[in-house]
Amino acid sequence: MNYKVMTAEEAASFVNNGDIIGFSGFTPAGCPKEVPTAIAKRAEAAHAEGKEFKIGMYTGASTGDSLDGALARANAIMFRTPYQSNKDLRSRLNAQEAHYFDMHLSHLAQELRYGFLPKPKFAIVEACELTDDGEIVPTSGVGILPTICRLADHIIVELNAAHPAALRGMHDIYEPQDPPCREAIPVYKPSDRCGQPFVKVDPRKIIAVVNTNRPNEVGKFSPLDAVTHQIGANVANFLAAEIKAGRIPASFLPIQSGVGNIANAVLSSLGENPDIPPFEMYTEVIQDAVIGLMKEGHCKFASGCSLTVSQPVLEQVYGDLDFFKERIVLRPQEISNNPEVARRLGLITINTALEADIFGNVNSTHVLGTKMMNGIGGSCDFTRNAYISIFTTPSTAKDGKISSIVPMVSHLDQSEHSVKVLITEHGVADLRGKSPIQRAHCIIDNCVAPEYRDMLRRYLESAPKAHTPANLNTCFEMHRAFAETGDMHNAKL
Ligand code: COA
Repeated sequence: MNYKVMTAEEAASFVNNGDIIGFSGFTPAGCPKEVPTAIAKRAEAAHAEGKEFKIGMYTGASTGDSLDGALARANAIMFRTPYQSNKDLRSRLNAQEAHYFDMHLSHLAQELRYGFLPKPKFAIVEACELTDDGEIVPTSGVGILPTICRLADHIIVELNAAHPAALRGMHDIYEPQDPPCREAIPVYKPSDRCGQPFVKVDPRKIIAVVNTNRPNEVGKFSPLDAVTHQIGANVANFLAAEIKAGRIPASFLPIQSGVGNIANAVLSSLGENPDIPPFEMYTEVIQDAVIGLMKEGHCKFASGCSLTVSQPVLEQVYGDLDFFKERIVLRPQEISNNPEVARRLGLITINTALEADIFGNVNSTHVLGTKMMNGIGGSCDFTRNAYISIFTTPSTAKDGKISSIVPMVSHLDQSEHSVKVLITEHGVADLRGKSPIQRAHCIIDNCVAPEYRDMLRRYLESAPKAHTPANLNTCFEMHRAFAETGDMHNAKL
């Protein structure tokens, strides 16, 4: 190999205070690990000497602990976008010690190209193969890898032997042109390929190669419990009824499914329902449940941006690559989450709300209106452009002390116009063609936990008659009660 092979510490020594770095990967899948940790150590050493050391960071989405976690603990983050889910980073940004801006994941690469955001000086990327003429084959997550490699002045590659070079062929790398007159992205079904199986860069930009053998840092999913199982069953029954009614074609439509435990559980339920035909996915993250569904024949194909699967499941995929390479394609997030493609394919989108209000507005990001949880991720990319958009949530959180359905969301991510169906363990609120007051009754009757229904009905009655009735004196009374007493049951409604 013609490149300079060096240690992570040597590679990290190129990075200085104030530098802006783009990292590969999407969720902990495909993220570099060694160099970010070494940068965090450089920051700690600088801080110990009383010197400033913070970097600006672009990533695909959330990352692993050796990236976001290490840099957050070192207080080395000047700004960060577009999505995160690390406990230590969450603490930093909620303490205003790192500036975070939450973005639609499909927007980041183009906003970098448009010059809306400062250009990255470095791209630090994980690869399973690197050729002398500059072909980089990503590992299990792509994210913004093609764009940051093109825009950055310098590229540092972590060549990770934990991912087989035989992954070549699983990726489809395509970067859209910038407007005006961008051509259509030629993806007409989830399995269509329109790009190359690698990212091609100018090899002279690669200033360091760091050899490593480190597994991904994807956490475990919670096992299905009665609530998540029932939510999943409600989603599957709803979709089966839509097929029966002829509103979803009998051949079915591709599924997009969100992140987290609930999304993983919902997918398992789709596989269990005999009235749901084998399906394809056009989604962002491919989680554990999808791999099981593929082996059982319930999921025929999945297009995504990352294999966000636990280590044992990743080993199953790598152990049978011939099978899975025919059934999985990994794309940059600009394509996996592309609104044009989502609308064209007619996606059934299933995402998770932290809270929803009685009119169908959804908050997926801010705990009790102020504290950032993770971010919107791709949920808006998909929801707004869905064939039919579904939001799921358990009806309560924190042992019933929080009702996930409230008079008015304390933060808005998805508006009532985009949310077509809301589903909890209690049932389904089909919001299509309903006015705000009709939606309110439908959600209270079908989705709210029985113990909170009368409280929300009383609230609705207390609101002056209007198109969207709201009592501005009490619309956050449930949040106030939780903040002050630790229990929404104490709301004075
Ligand atoms: N108020 C306060 N906290 C709440 C809450 C509410 N209304 N509803 C849930 N929570 C808490 C839960 O108690 C849990 O807390 P814990 O971690 O302390 O136990 C936490 O929020 C997460 O809930 P969980 O039930 O584990 O859900 P999840 O793993 O399925 O994640 C989201 C749910 C909303 C956080 C997650 O789906 C997300 O980040 N979504 C936004 C991005 C997105 O949709 N991306 C997909 C696009 S492709």
